[in-house]
Amino acid sequence: MKWLALPRIPEPEVMGDADEVEAYTSAATQAYLDAVDDTFVEQALCFGPLKGWLLDLGTGPGCIPLKIARRSPELRVVGVDRSLPMVRAARRAAAREKLDGQAFFMLADAARLSFRDAFFHVVICNSLLHHLPQPVAVFNEMARVAKPEGLVLLRDLRRPSRLAFPFHVRWHGRHYSGTMRRLYRDSVRAAYTATELAQLLQGSALADAQTFRHRRTHLGFYRAGREQV
Ligand SMILES: C[S@@+](CC[C@H](N)C(=O)[O-])C[C@H]1O[C@@H](n2cnc3c(N)ncnc32)[C@H](O)[C@@H]1O
Repeated sequence: MKWLALPRIPEPEVMGDADEVEAYTSAATQAYLDAVDDTFVEQALCFGPLKGWLLDLGTGPGCIPLKIARRSPELRVVGVDRSLPMVRAARRAAAREKLDGQAFFMLADAARLSFRDAFFHVVICNSLLHHLPQPVAVFNEMARVAKPEGLVLLRDLRRPSRLAFPFHVRWHGRHYSGTMRRLYRDSVRAAYTATELAQLLQGSALADAQTFRHRRTHLGFYRAGREQV
């Protein structure tokens, strides 16, 4: 039923405003996001022990690749983001945790990466999709830089129906306040639906990826190669 569909409202692509970075990296937000991030980390690690090189697109303050690095000493991780304040926050976190010999953060556009083809054993991406006006360019880059036998995993928020939206943001956003509450609402409104994601994938180099839904709040896809890393 078309009237039930909630139109997507894109939000600014890059999180560069000082108050947005502050809201996203604040202790209160991170305490809650930590638990959500853990479920993504478990998803990545359930494909087997990770070795080699991992790339995280739209890394933000780097929490997810740092968590993975801590649990995978044989892995080297690279996080990229288009926001310099986010890259700086990620570098500080790596130094604080003494992981700066294992985890590297740089400014880059996920749609135009300078890494060579088939370099990474693992390519992950959490909560970037809803920022993207042209996700196919990023999906194609994920496919290009990942080894054919490597793991590609993306997860993001899910946009609910028009009817469910007010309850969805009130309930699932109840842990946030202030700027972060607004960011969460805007992010859900900018998220893609499962149908939209499937259509985007079909038009990309990741057409063979498997889509999934995670709880009521998230969706995503993975492509696990024949031989796991
Ligand atoms: C909601 S945050 C998610 C951060 C992190 N992945 C996490 O799960 O906490 C999205 C991040 O993607 C970044 N971003 C947006 N467009 C990008 C692009 N084209 N390339 C790289 N990073 C991008 C934003 O600056 C922001 O830091």
